[in-house]
Amino acid sequence: MPWYSEEKIEEVRSRSDIVEVIGSYVRLKHSGSSYAGLCPFHSEKTPSFYVSPARQMYKCFGCGAGGNVITFVMEYENYSFPEAMEYLAGRAGIVLPKQDMTREQRERENLRMLLLEINTKAAKYYYAKLKSPKGKAGYEYLRSRGLTDETITRFGLGYAGQGGDELYQYMKHEGYRDEMLKETGLFKMDERGAYDKFWNRVMFPIMDVNNRVIGFGGRVMGDAKPKYLNSPETKLFDKSRNLFGLNYAKQGKRKYLILCEGYMDVIAMQQAGFTGAVASLGTAFTEQQANLLRRYADEVLLTYDSDEAGVKAALRAIPILRGAGLPARIVRLKPYKDPDEFMKAMGAEEFEKRLDDAQNSFYFELDKIKERFDLSDPEQMTRYYHEVARKLLVFEDKVQRDNYLEAVSARYGIRKEDLRELVIRYGTSLPNGYAAAAEETEKKQGTKKTEEMGIFHTYSLFLSWLAETPELYELVKDKITPDDFEGESFREAASLFYAQLEQGELVPAKIINHFTDVESQNMAARMFQTDFQAKMSPEEREKAFNELVIRIKEHSIDLRMRRLTDMGELQKLVMEKKQWQTPEKLHISLKDGNS
Ligand code: UTP
Ligand code: MN
Repeated sequence: MPWYSEEKIEEVRSRSDIVEVIGSYVRLKHSGSSYAGLCPFHSEKTPSFYVSPARQMYKCFGCGAGGNVITFVMEYENYSFPEAMEYLAGRAGIVLPKQDMTREQRERENLRMLLLEINTKAAKYYYAKLKSPKGKAGYEYLRSRGLTDETITRFGLGYAGQGGDELYQYMKHEGYRDEMLKETGLFKMDERGAYDKFWNRVMFPIMDVNNRVIGFGGRVMGDAKPKYLNSPETKLFDKSRNLFGLNYAKQGKRKYLILCEGYMDVIAMQQAGFTGAVASLGTAFTEQQANLLRRYADEVLLTYDSDEAGVKAALRAIPILRGAGLPARIVRLKPYKDPDEFMKAMGAEEFEKRLDDAQNSFYFELDKIKERFDLSDPEQMTRYYHEVARKLLVFEDKVQRDNYLEAVSARYGIRKEDLRELVIRYGTSLPNGYAAAAEETEKKQGTKKTEEMGIFHTYSLFLSWLAETPELYELVKDKITPDDFEGESFREAASLFYAQLEQGELVPAKIINHFTDVESQNMAARMFQTDFQAKMSPEEREKAFNELVIRIKEHSIDLRMRRLTDMGELQKLVMEKKQWQTPEKLHISLKDGNS
């Protein structure tokens, strides 16, 4: 729930004109009743990003991003909900009262602020220690790894002392309570006392995109294990949503960002002038990180380690990047292990050449698949071709798939016709989800059937339809209620929308306000923006609408059945479901101008 009252949020939203706000980030052109521009959330050359002044919403038909003015600044600036509120309120000259938060919310916000404060103090402490006589070992280690004083300062590198509880004593002296210190993950506490988590290590502060210290990594100065210790996840530090170095690498939209594995790689590359270097920090690369990168770059150059583990990690990251709409290329570092070692041995100029020569990630994948087969054996060669055909289905866009099909057949000497045939064969045998499969099936069977769509899509069609034709509400409100929706957020969105319909005041953009995290907001935005078939005849529309209603109801009954324990109740539900399956009685007629 929001930290500000509903009225306040609505005031901020309604006084921040979406065209004006988005227009300050994106060049918008008038296009019919809306404005169009190049989507800031994915890379494109022709505009598929639309802003509607009437709805006060935006939507990208390319990547699916959508929402209201608040979600836009959250997405674009990577602000939290309260930060976005503050930004827009400031812009509109609205004063935000602090008292609007509940006690619990205020405490949570205070806790976050306090954790940030402690982290910042810890970073300063480590840095000062590094620069002091006691930090000589750490300082010399970093220098021996080729870092300049300027780099050390820029990244705020430090040294955790020898004592075992130095930082703890310092923080106590500064007046912080144990409870709070515990939350930072910088200390170990048990019955015997409190100790520093990091000692005798060189320290790498991890910052979020807004330059706030959210955690640390600490490296031993020799070969001891573990090589790196990292802060645990805390209320501030969510590893899956942050990238080391992004605070420096972010800089409007770049042509490319360089993704690598480690702290030292980022620092070495940035020091050598490759300022777009970021690291996923030893954890598996995530979808959220891919989305984050997409905000700041059109392409990703992968410089994972050249060893087996690095190749594996790259093979896992590529589909994630592709899924986020980010093309990737793979940089060859051999015979060196990682960018840091490469840079040290070969220098920036050679590195630049390697970046230029980076390999298309799809070819990289195919080459790795190829290694698994002995192509002198016809049997294995056939299997390899099949694998290639199946792999081509990752391209959901038909034009792109065809382009790759051509290129691949030339590159690997496979006859184009044969490959195409295999692709179609696999395309039609794969389960739902692959757009490629859907596309081929669609050609054979005419239009897609409602049954094949996800339930979310059904909900969204249904609500969009109601938004477009509110008169329908009276006809369906007794048949479908918000309780019929599966999933808490859907249920909440539906019930808010029903309340609006009930009052005859339709503002879908307002519903989005109720969700404070970006995912739910996007979900809520998309719920009202699904375009249904405008070209349908009145009969088709009526049929389609009834199918939607029945599908939602059936799904809802199925869910209730699954949860039931009482047999008598079950009987009733079975009957109810039967009734919906012979829907003459329940049929909704759109004939009276309700289409
Ligand atoms: P690497 O083992 O490749 O280390 O781990 P590195 O980056 O080359 O480190 P240097 O050059 O020896 O100093 C890559 C990344 O994986 C994480 C760290 O983020 C590291 O930078 N890692 C590695 C850990 O978190 N813990 C470890 O013990 C090792
Ligand atoms: Mn290294």
